Amino acid sequence: MKTTNRTSRAPVGRFREKTIVLGVTGSIAAYKAVSLARRLMAEGAVVQVVMTRNAQRFVGPLTFQELTGRPVGTDLFAPSDAVPASMGMPHLALAESADLLVIAPASAHCVAKLAHGLADDLLSTLALAAECPVVVAPAMDGGMWTHPAVCSNVLTLRQRGVTVLEPEVGPLASGRTGKGRLPEEDAILSAIAGALHPVKDFKGQRVLITAGPTQEALDPVRFISNRSSGKMGWALAEAARDRGAGVVLIAGPTALPPVPNVTVVPVVTSEDMRKEVITRFVDSDVLIMAAAVADFRPAGSSPGKIPKGRGPRTLALEPTPDILMDLPSRRAGQFVVGFSAETGDLVERARAKLRRKALDMIVANNVTEPGAGFGTETNRATLLDRAGRCDALPLMSKLELAHRILDAVLEFPTDRLQKGGTS
Ligand code: C5P
Repeated sequence: MKTTNRTSRAPVGRFREKTIVLGVTGSIAAYKAVSLARRLMAEGAVVQVVMTRNAQRFVGPLTFQELTGRPVGTDLFAPSDAVPASMGMPHLALAESADLLVIAPASAHCVAKLAHGLADDLLSTLALAAECPVVVAPAMDGGMWTHPAVCSNVLTLRQRGVTVLEPEVGPLASGRTGKGRLPEEDAILSAIAGALHPVKDFKGQRVLITAGPTQEALDPVRFISNRSSGKMGWALAEAARDRGAGVVLIAGPTALPPVPNVTVVPVVTSEDMRKEVITRFVDSDVLIMAAAVADFRPAGSSPGKIPKGRGPRTLALEPTPDILMDLPSRRAGQFVVGFSAETGDLVERARAKLRRKALDMIVANNVTEPGAGFGTETNRATLLDRAGRCDALPLMSKLELAHRILDAVLEFPTDRLQKGGTS
């Protein structure tokens, strides 16, 4: 068996030769931007920091200046060391130099200004002038993040192609717990990597992805399901979209927000998912079955709620049809990727599944490993394909893994995909 160690998307030096403008706004999380700047530099980026007036109340510009070796942009009008007068207006010079603008932390005020095109300081004005990809990492109190005004501003930005990350859930500066913490550094770095992806190597490809769990009803109130969060399928959809693919995401019930510029088809049961996959498979070039489809469902489902006293003591189950096994013949040459969530004998079981389900590739992961599997932001997987690839990948973010899977699809030795596009 051939074992390869591909380095095409190695994390080290992901941002070399890139100038990243790091916008810092007035949030308690501004101190975290110091560490983010370090990570960006460690991955090869030239980091130019721009701070709002309120950001400077939390962290001094000198901290960033010492760290990045570059003066910090703070003033829209005054030429400074960051942008000498000879380079023209600071906002235009900075916008032109940027390969990417990341704003971390982005306050609710900053998100509103970006959504409405306000330009009253250096950061907001350069954001309007910039033609590069923009990544926004919000940080605010939980109640603010869910305020209808903020939701609508975030939606506007996403529809405009800005990558707005979801804040983390956890303790907030207010003392409350909720969703509003600055996203983890790794998530910000992965989003930057995705947004910087210059190669639209999936242009013209139609990628069908399944994600999340399915729910199998026992009665109108109760169901059996599994722990899948849908995050891996979501990451695949984002990565394929960023690389130019037309993406359809067939999604079981999850708590995740819609993926902009991706057609999301919501389903509930394994049978719903089967129907959608079978119907849409013929119009696809690549199918990636990341969903944790239920393997069993209740043998019968009651039309009314089963009364507490009359519930069955044992549950009669029947197997669900295996969607991958049910795919119509692949005469159109679709590339099919399955997932294999295991708790042991990872590679052997995945290899057997690859053969049994006639897959081109399988992504195997041990869901009991720390940081891997259901609900986590990261995953550790082994990629196997029918040409003999067996790559044990290190722990990485799900977005990074999604890119590795897409890289592997393109690296598979078939002319059709490597040339890109179908007519
Ligand atoms: O056999 P196992 O359920 O472990 O296989 C997992 C792979 O098969 C995943 O890609 C999953 O999406 C897919 N699957 C399927 N239909 C099922 C169950 C799983 O296509 N009923």
